[in-house]
Amino acid sequence: MPLSAEQTTLGAAWLTQQQIDTTWLDARTCLTAIDAPDDSAYRRYLSASCDYTPDPQWSEQLAAQSASVILTQGFIAREKQAGHTVLLGRGGSDTSATYFAARLMAKRCEIWTDVPGMYSANPRQINDARLLWRLGYDEAQEIASTGAKVLHPRCLAPVREHNIPLHICCTGRPDIQGTVISNQSASPKPQVKAISVKTGQVLVSMDTPGMWQQVGFLADVFQCFKQQGLSIDLVSTSEMNVTVSLDPASNALTPETLTALTQALNRFCRAKLIDGCAAISLVGRDIRAILHKLGPALELFEEHNIHLVSQAASDLNLTVVLQQAQASRLVSRLHRLLFGHVANDGTFGPTWRELFVTPSPEDTEPKPPSPWWKGRQETLLALAQERSPRYVYNGATLDGAARALTQMSAIDRVFYAIKANPNPDILRRFHGHGLGFECVSPGELERVMELFPDLDPKRILYTPNFAPRHEYALGLERGVWVTLDNLHPLESWPELFEGRELFVRIDPGQGRGHHDYVKTAGARSKFGISAEQLERLHILLDRAGARVIGLHAHSGSGILSPEGWSETALLLTSIAEQFPHVRHIDLGGGLGIPEKPAHTALDLDALNTSLQPIRAAHPNVEFWLEPGRFLVAQAGVLLATVTQLKTKTDVYYVGIDTGMNSLIRPALYGAYHNIVNLSQLDAPASRVANIVGPICETGDTLGYDRRIADPSEGDVLLIANTGAYGRAMSSWYNLRAPAEEIVID
Ligand code: LLP
Repeated sequence: MPLSAEQTTLGAAWLTQQQIDTTWLDARTCLTAIDAPDDSAYRRYLSASCDYTPDPQWSEQLAAQSASVILTQGFIAREKQAGHTVLLGRGGSDTSATYFAARLMAKRCEIWTDVPGMYSANPRQINDARLLWRLGYDEAQEIASTGAKVLHPRCLAPVREHNIPLHICCTGRPDIQGTVISNQSASPKPQVKAISVKTGQVLVSMDTPGMWQQVGFLADVFQCFKQQGLSIDLVSTSEMNVTVSLDPASNALTPETLTALTQALNRFCRAKLIDGCAAISLVGRDIRAILHKLGPALELFEEHNIHLVSQAASDLNLTVVLQQAQASRLVSRLHRLLFGHVANDGTFGPTWRELFVTPSPEDTEPKPPSPWWKGRQETLLALAQERSPRYVYNGATLDGAARALTQMSAIDRVFYAIKANPNPDILRRFHGHGLGFECVSPGELERVMELFPDLDPKRILYTPNFAPRHEYALGLERGVWVTLDNLHPLESWPELFEGRELFVRIDPGQGRGHHDYVKTAGARSKFGISAEQLERLHILLDRAGARVIGLHAHSGSGILSPEGWSETALLLTSIAEQFPHVRHIDLGGGLGIPEKPAHTALDLDALNTSLQPIRAAHPNVEFWLEPGRFLVAQAGVLLATVTQLKTKTDVYYVGIDTGMNSLIRPALYGAYHNIVNLSQLDAPASRVANIVGPICETGDTLGYDRRIADPSEGDVLLIANTGAYGRAMSSWYNLRAPAEEIVID
């Protein structure tokens, strides 16, 4: 903690009064600012740097003093020429301490502050952040540079150069041995030790069509930054684009400077500013060597729009830049995944919560509800005994999902996308909840209309894609809502649509979802009519004598972040201005469920809240949803019986009586389904195994490297969250019957 000259004289007087023999020392007599005549007056006087060459003579003098305490000040030094007092600027107090340590060639330097050290994340935001016992200078420097506030990165150079261990100690808790920064990091092995975040970052994205490979291009654009006095933090380059980040901590990012910068850059490229960004860094040693282990952590970025990724040349960090609003939720999930289960060892100490937070029930994050099947072991084992393999669906879970959606105040009507699971009992259940149905084929239409002959056809959406003419004719004849997702039908069969009221599927531009195959928007997706085609659409509608009464968009499937639907609503309501007859806005489906251990559930309340103002601003249109997965996925489990066991080289295989013929999602999308040994539900998951089916393909693997209770032949395994796109996508491959289905209460 820096003390002013007055405070230190008072302090010295007080200590002396307490019978502690104290000498007062003027810091300005020992710290001299480096003479830098070219530096601005601001730098020379308010952000000075000092010479910290060891001074053995001075050390000896101090050692020879009889006083047991020498009290001095932080943050100030002497200017060489006129002897003026100068300030050290940002981080100046810690830097004073390390300057003194280096000048004295101290055995150790202690910095007493309000936290006991460096943490695996900002402990004020993440209470489960772990205290780091030991760090190398390079690691500490990196954690400080990438956002941690406990130490300023500049204070480390003096102790690092002279190999002086730096101890961080907590004034409020002197009993805790805090972080020690030295050249002996606890573990030399590659490891992520912390997640740091820097907010307020501004990105400059420079599109360079045709300019890449031109000699001097980077020199030209970087010169523009230099001219505006801006220092670049991160850089990422591709053939067509160079993106850099500017850190407000080291730059004065005024609107004038940024405008001047963009103007200058536009002479060489197309420059765009992206502000309000956060840089999230995973910091540790030899990150490149452990990239493969970061897979699950990197998966968390799946739902986010990443602006820039940079892997430091020093190999000490991997940084991802994205919109700031997404950062804090993401960081706490990343932290849980990376450090949640790491044992206390020489590197990782106790959590901030353990040391400083008095436990209160509200502090703990709500635990996800236990899956329905946990309490139904006996029933499920009996069902598997009767018939295996078998899909079992739980009625109460189906009801709960239907209720959760029908209760959303911003949604007027919910249509169940029956492709997820067209099981008649399930359809009946949802019909009972007043849901409508979304169908994509004549087969699906027939199924719904046969089951519910009295259902108003306007409760059925029909969304064929690249289907033949007669399928559209069928939908129109049946009086259901037909959605066009291409101009071809209007161009080629206009007579079919004369006098009809239609839905149009718009491509919202950005696809979302758990896998590329299920992202249904953007240039690479076959669905929807793009914004540029709307003009033509108007002409074709007029020519055919049809009118659009509904707009629809569906960006993809298995989405866990809530923002997408309000973005779609904004897009569709703005397009609706061109279509005066629009009464329905169908926001599609795609609502995900947590599948992988790292996933957190979609926040339905947040989704609803984000839609409310848009809904309120458009009182004359109804907002519809057409989810499939959300309604059925968690209600379903696949039960299968262990057939054979095998160890080959170092892999243990557990064979079961069905595989990709019942559940193709793992093979097709690398989808993750939790697998447990239902016969030994309470036994420890002591075995790591690949769970495989009987189909003649290596891809017939339902789970890789899964931890399960050691199975024996005849045990029943339960494969969770298989109510959606399980049986619906099954096949008779190898002429093996897929698992049959049953709904239980
Ligand atoms: N509406 C349309 C136009 C769709 O194409 C889909 C799904 C849905 C609604 C329902 O999406 P959901 O709410 O279920 O995400 N087989 C993949 C999913 C494919 C989804 C296809 N379209 C899987 O197993 O993950």
